[in-house]
Amino acid sequence: MKFQERVFSGMQPTGSLHLGNYLGAMLKWIDLQKTHDCIYCVVDLHAITVWQDPAGLRQAIRQVTAAYIAAGLDPEKSILFNQSQVSAHAELAWVFNCVARLGWLNRMTQFKEKAGKDRENASVGLYAYPNLMAADILAYRATHVPVGDDQKQHLELSRDIAQKFNNDFSDQIKVAGYEEGEFFPLPEPVITGPATRVMSLRDGSRKMSKSEPSEMSRINLTDDNDTIAKKVRKAKTDPAPLPSEVEGLSGRPEAENLVGIFAALSGSEKAEVLAEFGGRQFSEFKSALAELCVAQLGPIAEEARRRMQDPDEIDRILVNGADRARQLAQPILSEVKDILGFVRPGS
Ligand code: TYM
Repeated sequence: MKFQERVFSGMQPTGSLHLGNYLGAMLKWIDLQKTHDCIYCVVDLHAITVWQDPAGLRQAIRQVTAAYIAAGLDPEKSILFNQSQVSAHAELAWVFNCVARLGWLNRMTQFKEKAGKDRENASVGLYAYPNLMAADILAYRATHVPVGDDQKQHLELSRDIAQKFNNDFSDQIKVAGYEEGEFFPLPEPVITGPATRVMSLRDGSRKMSKSEPSEMSRINLTDDNDTIAKKVRKAKTDPAPLPSEVEGLSGRPEAENLVGIFAALSGSEKAEVLAEFGGRQFSEFKSALAELCVAQLGPIAEEARRRMQDPDEIDRILVNGADRARQLAQPILSEVKDILGFVRPGS
């Protein structure tokens, strides 16, 4: 069977979104709306795998939603909702807790990074996190998942889970009328473009992230124009001028990062950026980059702020999106229950 193409992706509502989230994921989400049926989720169940202050979480869910819409996500066209409103995610995640193997999860590098030395004190949810992610995607039989590079391993696990489910229950899947081993698609990561891994502005060897203590390390989607320009001007660089060829960026992580950001924001490639700026000093390049960042991100921040003044409207959008999501996920979940052998009305 050929699966109908469907896009799913999500972002955690923890702190404000940053340039990495925008370039690594959101720009692609917005682009894919033109060609695909898309489902975009504020993954609040994932957020609570580490401690969240409840009032702060509620605010962050609305803020992320406002940022999505301000960046160009159309909640009429795409489905936009928060994960906890659709119980299919948690239900299917439990099933996948029983499909995925401990050995698979033990290999997840993000758990190791997040749990750090205090592994014994990490929540069970943080450990099982990738299974919930697989459930998010497969509850809709999504085929394409636009994400940044850091989610690659989690997506491979989602594919392994889909494959194992298809194999383990192949007889029941056939009885349900599917071709052998074709109940769940193996979702494909969409990790494309010049900025799949945006690095910290203070250290080109570290990923730009919400958890980095220094505010100067990232550009937030809530920053005002002056702050954006200041962070770009102060970004770490090296003393040499920019190279004219992409190969000249190797061993120069800060330069490579800034060139990648410029390329992604201007819808071009690193080679094109270097064709223009090769041989020039960073001071000149940074002025152009600051201007570009402000022109692209400034209006998003302003529109998100405007939308945050009407939280009821944001909540209505999420409730409506959740209704639409539920209608897609429920029949798939019911089929899963039948395949597993659960008893339910009409089974
Ligand atoms: P999260 O919330 O950490 O990040 C959201 C998206 O932003 C991307 N990203 C980056 N891209 C480039 N450079 C960076 N520095 C950078 N930092 C973050 C992430 O790759 C991601 O695409 N587990 C996911 C959320 C999730 C999900 C899903 C995604 C839950 N269920 C199902 C896809 C499908 C996460 O924590 O993303």
